[in-house]
Amino acid sequence: MPRKQLNIGMIGYGFMGRAHSNAWRKVGNFFDLDYQPVLKAVAARNRDKAAAFADQWGYERVETDWRKLIEAKDIDAIDICVPNDLHAEIAIAAAKAGKMVLCEKPLARNAREGEKMVAAVEKAGVPNTVWYNYRRVPAVSLIRQVVASGKLGKIYHYRSLFLQDWTISPDVPQGGAGTWRLDIEAAGSGVTGDLLAHCIDAAIWINGSITDLTAMTETFVKKRKHALTGKMQDVGIDDAAAVLCHFANGSLGTFESTRYARGHKALFTLEINGQHGSLAWDLHDLNRVSWFDHRIEGTMRGWTSILVTDGDHPYLGKWWVPGLSIGYEHSFIHQVADFIEGLSTGKSAGPTFRDALETTRVCDAIIASAKKGKWVPAQ
Ligand SMILES: NC(=O)c1ccc[n+]([C@@H]2O[C@H](COP(=O)([O-])OP(=O)(O)OC[C@H]3O[C@@H](n4cnc5c(N)ncnc54)[C@H](O)[C@@H]3O)[C@@H](O)[C@H]2O)c1
Repeated sequence: MPRKQLNIGMIGYGFMGRAHSNAWRKVGNFFDLDYQPVLKAVAARNRDKAAAFADQWGYERVETDWRKLIEAKDIDAIDICVPNDLHAEIAIAAAKAGKMVLCEKPLARNAREGEKMVAAVEKAGVPNTVWYNYRRVPAVSLIRQVVASGKLGKIYHYRSLFLQDWTISPDVPQGGAGTWRLDIEAAGSGVTGDLLAHCIDAAIWINGSITDLTAMTETFVKKRKHALTGKMQDVGIDDAAAVLCHFANGSLGTFESTRYARGHKALFTLEINGQHGSLAWDLHDLNRVSWFDHRIEGTMRGWTSILVTDGDHPYLGKWWVPGLSIGYEHSFIHQVADFIEGLSTGKSAGPTFRDALETTRVCDAIIASAKKGKWVPAQ
């Protein structure tokens, strides 16, 4: 049976525009799906740059106003790869026009915006997802499966880090292309919505809801030049965040994120400790899970390193042969595959906008707790 077409309208052609375009192009080569993505159009403000991108990735046409994609009859799904301040407006317009919506994380700058987005996609009944792609790293999916199987017994601890070092210099500007993440207006928050949001999404997915938390945040560089105006302005984002929390299952969580950990470029780690065992993972060795099983006989007991490349590991049966690795970009391909599978089954694999709103609420609580210096509810 020939596959049905799924016509994609991409908004933004930066880092994520490339990661998603690659995923849309490759997915049909490796996964047996009912729909074949077609790269119909890309929208960005600069026509020449957008045209060069379209040429490189195989988009059929270019628009300089994203609203043209929303209005276009030949677009089925809108893929939002622009800074956070545009997520709500675009997603709500796309849902109203009856388009499927795939939105980059964080869902929104805050839960208020996020709630409107959830209401819009649910009212329109359109398939929707947020690109918390690390769920689809096979090793992370495996951890979730093992925890869900109950092998760890009662869970005591969950801890996670996301560390970078690229904003230590006070000369890094805020705002504008490439540095919009430092501008509170564009980003909504600093490391909390940018990096910690990944840790929180994975934590909720693996270990369940967070009930309450206390946090501290810091802005190490208080003023930075704005890239667009050239003026020195107060910095509104959090440069670093540290969080203690309770999960609904009674376990304790600790999270840390910063862009000031010299030497770390993208160290995302997670570890979960239960009564019978522990599991750990880090992004720098993304195909490996460390596993400790306390039920193994004493003299043979120890941390085991599992290379997650076997055919029966999540997603790996679609790739090469056991022992051969896959990488970062595959997490996006897996998300697209699951999204398309969900169109066929009518059951979303998530994270849906509603799932992602839970993470955004936790992020809001982190910022609020740090301001108040108090424990706060996480939802
Ligand atoms: N899932 C992940 O791991 C991950 C990683 C990086 C970024 N992100 C998220 O993806 C989104 C984009 O981040 P990025 O790193 O790709 O940013 P980027 O700066 O590399 O790209 C942003 C793109 O948006 C375009 N843009 C800005 N304003 C626009 C407008 N009004 N109309 C059309 N296009 C516009 C820019 O031209 C650029 O192409 C953000 O929400 C970010 O949080 C997610």
